[in-house]
Amino acid sequence: MPKLVVVNRAGVEQEVEAANGVSVMEAIRDAGFDELLALCGGCCSCATCHVYVDAAFADKVDALSEDENDLLDSTDHRADNSRLSCQLHMSDAVDGLKVTIAPED
Ligand code: FES
Repeated sequence: MPKLVVVNRAGVEQEVEAANGVSVMEAIRDAGFDELLALCGGCCSCATCHVYVDAAFADKVDALSEDENDLLDSTDHRADNSRLSCQLHMSDAVDGLKVTIAPED
């Protein structure tokens, strides 16, 4: 199973295991992090699953869609490495993926 490294808003890092195919949002939520609201349940319509993707994985994660890009524009904390975690999927190709939960809007 691929591993996911999650950094919470306090800067505490935790490694979790995630099944192939689950979204990063689901993996974070299932690991018990309550900072990631993911209010829309993964429909790409709320932006409350905002994370920052570690630079080493920028080219390995799923591509940014137009809808995701528009939604990210609505957040106050967008950065170059901003992504919506419900739009990223775990696979062996991203084993060790590190994401940081973005500040709440
Ligand atoms: S969970 Fe709503 S956009 Fe990701």
